[in-house]
Amino acid sequence: MKGVILAGGLGTRLYPLTKITNKHLLPIYSKPMIFYPIETLINAGIKDIMIVTGGSYAGDFLRLMGNGKEFGLKHINYTYQEGEGGIADALSLAEYFADGEPICVVLGDNIIEKNISKAVRDFENQKEGAKILLKEVPDPERFGVAEIEDGKLIGIVEKPSQPKSNLAVIGIYMYDGHVFNIVKTLKPSDRGELEITDVNNAYVQKGIMTWEMLQGWWTDAGTFESLLRANILVSQTGANNI
Ligand code: G1P
Repeated sequence: MKGVILAGGLGTRLYPLTKITNKHLLPIYSKPMIFYPIETLINAGIKDIMIVTGGSYAGDFLRLMGNGKEFGLKHINYTYQEGEGGIADALSLAEYFADGEPICVVLGDNIIEKNISKAVRDFENQKEGAKILLKEVPDPERFGVAEIEDGKLIGIVEKPSQPKSNLAVIGIYMYDGHVFNIVKTLKPSDRGELEITDVNNAYVQKGIMTWEMLQGWWTDAGTFESLLRANILVSQTGANNI
C-alpha cells in the first residue's frame, strides 16, 4: 500500500501563526507537525509516500525533509495543490502516484498515540472498497461524524450541529484504486470545497466501507485549542508508539 499525506491549505484558523509558514511545519512538542503523519505511515510498514502541499511555503517541505533520509526512507514524492479546493481535491493530485494501487491517506495535522498497523493489515486483506477509523470524542460537531446502527455504518455527516453519535471520523483513510473516479464525480460543498466525507459516503452507499475503532488518543492540530492539546499529549506520552 502507498501513503499520501495531505499538507496543503492556508491554515486560516491558526492565523497569524500561519502567516509566514505552512501549518504542517509548526512545532508539535519536539518536531514539526508533518513528521508525525510520516511516522504513522512508516510504523504501519508504508514507505512509498507522497506529500501533497501548496501555498507559498511548499519549498520549505523539501528543505526540511529532502528525500526522507532522517526517516530511513530512500525517497519522498511531493506534489503541489494550486488553490484551495479542499481535502478531496488535494487527494486527486495523488492519482498518478497511486497508479491504481490501494492508498492510505493521512491528513497532515492528525496525530495518534499508537499505530494503525492492524487496520492497514486488515485493509490489505479487503478486496475492494475503503476503510475509516473512528474515535470517541467529546466535541463531535467539529468533525465528520459516523452514524452506526447495530454495528453497521449508515453514513457520515460533516460537522453536524446535532451529531447522531460521539464517533469522529479521524483523518486517516484507506481507499482502493477507484477513489479517484469517485473524486471526479464530487460537487463542491457549501464551504466551496470537495469534501472527503462525500468520498467516504460514496463507499458507504456502495456497501464497501469498513470501519475500526482507533486505540489510544487521537487529535488534530488545526485550531489554537487542538494545537495546544496536541503539544501537551505528545509531551506526556509521545506519539506513534508501536
Ligand atoms: C477534516 C474532515 C473531517 C475529519 C477531520 C479530522 O476536517 O473534513 O471529516 O473529521 O478532518 O481531522 P477539517 O480539518 O477540514 O475541519
